Amino acid sequence: MSANARAVPVASRYSRRVVEERDPHAELLADFRAGMLEPPRSLPPKYFYDARGSQLFDAICDTPEYYPTRLEAELLERHADAILEASGARTLFELGSGTSRKTEYLLAALERRVPAPRYVANDVCGEILDEAGARLLRRFGALQVDSLCGDYAAALGHLDESPAAASDGPRLFCFLGSSLGNFEDDEAGALLTRIRAAMNPEDRLLLGLDRVKPRPVLEAAYNDAAGVTAAFNLNLLSVLNSELGADFDPEGFDHHAPFVEEHSRIEMHLVSRRDQQVQVTELEARLEIAAGEIIRTEISRKFSREAVDRLLALAGFEQETEWSAAEDWYSLFLLRPLAG
Ligand code: SAH
Ligand code: TRP
Repeated sequence: MSANARAVPVASRYSRRVVEERDPHAELLADFRAGMLEPPRSLPPKYFYDARGSQLFDAICDTPEYYPTRLEAELLERHADAILEASGARTLFELGSGTSRKTEYLLAALERRVPAPRYVANDVCGEILDEAGARLLRRFGALQVDSLCGDYAAALGHLDESPAAASDGPRLFCFLGSSLGNFEDDEAGALLTRIRAAMNPEDRLLLGLDRVKPRPVLEAAYNDAAGVTAAFNLNLLSVLNSELGADFDPEGFDHHAPFVEEHSRIEMHLVSRRDQQVQVTELEARLEIAAGEIIRTEISRKFSREAVDRLLALAGFEQETEWSAAEDWYSLFLLRPLAG
């Protein structure tokens, strides 16, 4: 990339900091050891998102079956001004921001309200943060963008060191895409509690959650006909191969994503097509995986009203406003942190 005349002012409106507290590689090793050596095997959700994984997720959002992105985008487009008005925010801080495409509705509303809008984006994927940042600077001429590259906890821990996020009036924390639903109840409660701890009393949290709906709609969204979700799921094996020196054969696994009604969640599985052995050089380990055995790579919870209420009570938030798409298929919640 070569410098050009326009790059100077643009660059001064963008920063990226790595905020990871633990060495990400050591963390993957620990998570792999904890979850993958013996059945039932599973991994935490964040390892999908290398540069290719982020691109594939972006492509999932464009599939006709994956309704959450479209419903959330519609809600944001329709209610962005009301959301900004209700929150009184001067700064937007987003967890797991990805491409920040839907966030543009909120940023446009923010730009209409304040002369020097600020956006602090957080993601584990540095490439997507830089790409999104460049696009946002082109569209929003006065916007300051600060990227915090690392996981949610690290970003929350470093928030007050970020010049753009250090509180200058109320901030709107955003956690969209139903990413909270990728965590079990106890982890989700702990994460929400951490978010609350990072908030000032006047800050607000905008939380996007996917809701319970008929099984065929749910299952189609995670089993798109073009196979993008399957490619995304299988890409995890390529991440493990390159990060851990493993020799997973992506051809040796099938993508499977059933709705498990008992837990009100989609489960993302990789199902072994045969008895196979996988060598993991970095761990000096060899996995014996049987035909039909499942690696659970993700959960995606579908929230009932009761489940939302339980979570908010657990984590100390009070709902101020709810905006829901037709038939409550998807909801945005504006939440106020309770003291203590
Ligand atoms: N918010 C966007 C993207 C959702 S996909 C949307 O609604 O479309 C989830 C995003 O969170 C990805 O960009 C992924 O890289 C990021 N992510 C996943 N786990 C994370 C973690 N533990 N900490 C920070 N970012 C994470
Ligand atoms: N937060 C998104 C969701 O639960 C993440 C996601 C969408 C996802 N499609 C996926 C995760 C496919 C793994 C595989 O809907």
